[in-house]
Amino acid sequence: MKNTTATFKKAKEEHKKLTMLTAYDYSFAKIMDEAGVDSILVGDSVGMVCLGYEDTLPVTMEDMIHHTAAVSRGAKNALVVADMPFMSYQTSVYDAVTNAGRLIKEGRAQAVKLEGGFEVVEQIKAIVAASIPVVAHIGLTPQSVNAFGGFKVQGKSEAAAQKLLDEARAIEEAGAFAVVLECVPEKLAAKISEAISIPTIGIGAGAGCDGQVLVYQDMLGLFSDFTPKFVKKFANVGEIVREAFEGYIKEVKEGTFPAKEHTYKMDDEILDKLY
Ligand code: KIV
Repeated sequence: MKNTTATFKKAKEEHKKLTMLTAYDYSFAKIMDEAGVDSILVGDSVGMVCLGYEDTLPVTMEDMIHHTAAVSRGAKNALVVADMPFMSYQTSVYDAVTNAGRLIKEGRAQAVKLEGGFEVVEQIKAIVAASIPVVAHIGLTPQSVNAFGGFKVQGKSEAAAQKLLDEARAIEEAGAFAVVLECVPEKLAAKISEAISIPTIGIGAGAGCDGQVLVYQDMLGLFSDFTPKFVKKFANVGEIVREAFEGYIKEVKEGTFPAKEHTYKMDDEILDKLY
């Protein structure tokens, strides 16, 4: 059965952990879905792990719709959440609702995610009022990398920690059904999770969150540009893939691939008639 925002609400009430992974294409979405992940996030991390950008800022609405539509076709049960890319919601409440609508109508996502706290409360309210479920995202918000001066842990000082707690409350009040906490000290994330009634989904925020999210290329060892401290490699698929590519190159060069079993037959009689 397709997961919905009600699945998230129930999990929080019943103290059951939620699982979320990113995906950007049909095949991986299908494998994750079959594995039983609760939710799939089409992250704007697509810009870094699929498109090779340095950060997420160049990602466009067209990129997000294209990848979201592919993921949605592969996700039978998981709740599909699509990221709103940089400048698709910061500019105005009108832009936020219009672009959230495109991710639902054209990408077939069931919810959208946007980054920020107090500054996006009006956007969250308006998107929710348009019947589009919203996941918020606070702490290290990668679209603000230039304002932060790098990818840094957030909420360490008393003022910064209090601000994050207040923002989490404001986001809940605005109507978001979940909030991603990225790169937040473990104890603060646990306190926020206790303070609000919507689920917190942590990434680099410790086990006190109501759920976890990881970028699949990170957890499979497929992205080697850098590995944040919070990533656990559940498999080194990158190595397996590299060996497979090397094996293919070797066999083609040697002439051992394709073998007889990979080829199609025809009648010799027909062949003999050719001139
Ligand atoms: O874009 C993304 O993949 C994200 C996750 C890191 C939460 O926002």
